[in-house]
Amino acid sequence: MIDIHTHLLAGVDDGTASRTESLQLLDAYADAGFTHIASTPHLFHPTVKTRVDLIREEFLFLRGEAKSRGIELVLGSEIYVSDPRPKPGIPMFKTFQLVEFNTDIRPMYLSDMVFHLNLLGIDVIIAHIDRYSWFSVKDPMIQRVREMGVYFQVNIESLESQKGKTFLENGFADFIASDNHGSQRKAVDLRTFSKYPDIMKRSMNILMGSEQH
Ligand SMILES: [Fe+2]
Repeated sequence: MIDIHTHLLAGVDDGTASRTESLQLLDAYADAGFTHIASTPHLFHPTVKTRVDLIREEFLFLRGEAKSRGIELVLGSEIYVSDPRPKPGIPMFKTFQLVEFNTDIRPMYLSDMVFHLNLLGIDVIIAHIDRYSWFSVKDPMIQRVREMGVYFQVNIESLESQKGKTFLENGFADFIASDNHGSQRKAVDLRTFSKYPDIMKRSMNILMGSEQH
């Protein structure tokens, strides 16, 4: 199993605050049967401060610890986008970039942004689609970017709600993830991922390049 959206680098952003906390979470991932985790610190967020200078050191530390638990930790990022031509972040699995937006303001530049990042060779994954008040599976703008090859990530806890079920039924759960912030947010029940084996399998196929839209 894989979790593609986490904030587990100690002291880097608003995720885990200490290495001890990060290691406790790694143990939980190992117990739940995970083989891969993407570490995706915030970049360019208007209110979350990111210690970019710590990313490399904390990633290398945690990657070693993950390896000893049988987990491959990869580095990525979650970029906050507020204009049509965002700066690229740190893509995971070579080309995949998590992007997030203001939760309440509809991004009218969405397709321009996707086109811009595609030209840079980046595959866009819209993070936690369950969090946006403006997101609807029937929205023409969303349909348009879907046709452009955008992938969609749903936070695991929302799949228990009707909203999350709508995403599942309409094929919008390309990826499910925890958006794990450690003790800064409500604890994530990692065992829930095993209820979605087909999505887990397809996620890996997409990331490894063996399946495309
Ligand atoms: Fe996040």
